[in-house]
Amino acid sequence: MEFRRLGPSGLQVSALSLGGWLTYGGTQKGNIVKDCMQAAWDNGINFFDTAETYANGQCELEMGQALKELAWPRDEYVLSTKVYFGTGRKEPNTKGLSKKHIVEGLKSSLARLDTPYVDIVFAHRSDDAVPMKEIVEAFTQTINMNLAYYWGTSEWSAAQIQEAYDVAEKYNLIAPIAEQPQYNAFHRERFEKEYAPLYEKHGYGSTIWSPLASGILTGKYDKGIPEDSRFATNKAFFGDSEQKLASEEGKAKLEKVRKLHTVADKVGGTTAALALAWCLKNKNVSTVILGASKPQQVHDNCKALQLLPKLTPEIMDEIEGILGNKPKASL
Ligand SMILES: NC(=O)c1ccc[n+]([C@@H]2O[C@H](COP(=O)([O-])OP(=O)(O)OC[C@H]3O[C@@H](n4cnc5c(N)ncnc54)[C@H](OP(=O)(O)O)[C@@H]3O)[C@@H](O)[C@H]2O)c1
Repeated sequence: MEFRRLGPSGLQVSALSLGGWLTYGGTQKGNIVKDCMQAAWDNGINFFDTAETYANGQCELEMGQALKELAWPRDEYVLSTKVYFGTGRKEPNTKGLSKKHIVEGLKSSLARLDTPYVDIVFAHRSDDAVPMKEIVEAFTQTINMNLAYYWGTSEWSAAQIQEAYDVAEKYNLIAPIAEQPQYNAFHRERFEKEYAPLYEKHGYGSTIWSPLASGILTGKYDKGIPEDSRFATNKAFFGDSEQKLASEEGKAKLEKVRKLHTVADKVGGTTAALALAWCLKNKNVSTVILGASKPQQVHDNCKALQLLPKLTPEIMDEIEGILGNKPKASL
């Protein structure tokens, strides 16, 4: 396993990590959660990600229970959760980024995880209804209360992240260290272009999500939607996936995946591992968060690390030619 520093912090995270969105506490419960996490650990993964909103808190319960049973030394793994969306309740203060919800939401997450602290707490989205000073103050407070060591952002604009830095500097508060953005071969603009000044100026870190575009980049949707796949088992999120895959945009994506199979064969790996290695190749990626409904997927996906040295400039050019979506440089 390769370890990367998470942004400007001293924290070292494995280049591949594991998260529980839609799977743990959702489609997968009990031993299989533990088995997936053990498979990650066996491959050298030290970073695990969850959120208050995943399966309305059930993901934290499942991952917390698994961590208890696995009993790894606490100083050897890194755990993150995220606040903002709440756990499905309607009352106004049970979600968002008010100081009240940041502190109380995190305390509730810790209770579900059955742990006194997480290493990183992320603001799962930005919240325009709350002054930035209150948000930065609240995350600083969670750190001062030893509920978390670091904080980060998720799907914030570059301007909002810069504002958080400015506020932290002005009021002597703690700045965030990393973003949790979507990044994969089909979704590049924000990560590669909008955030570029943040990497340069602050060495901002990143824990990227949906690296396989929810599985499309494995090739599993090439010939329709398999029964046990995310698009079939999570209709609430992906009810329109059949139409989407049949649209012009969907067909173009599947065509690109078919072409990527040829490159994967050339470098001697699966298309999933190739797509993950392509993410890892970007030096601004601190860690690629894997999702896995089965332990075998974790084992297979960890082979991405072995492909990294095979992604020569020629192979990267070939992939770029297939994708044809490199963001244009800023003016
Ligand atoms: N901050 C945010 O807003 C945000 C949003 C989304 C996710 N996240 C984080 O990022 C993590 C990863 O995101 P993601 O789960 O969307 O990642 P992903 O890698 O794009 O999708 C993972 C899913 O693809 C399928 N899969 C994975 N490997 C496979 C393989 N080798 N062969 C066949 N199918 C395979 C599995 O689903 P099936 O087997 O069910 O088909 C798996 O659950 C989440 O768990 C969460 O921690 C954060």
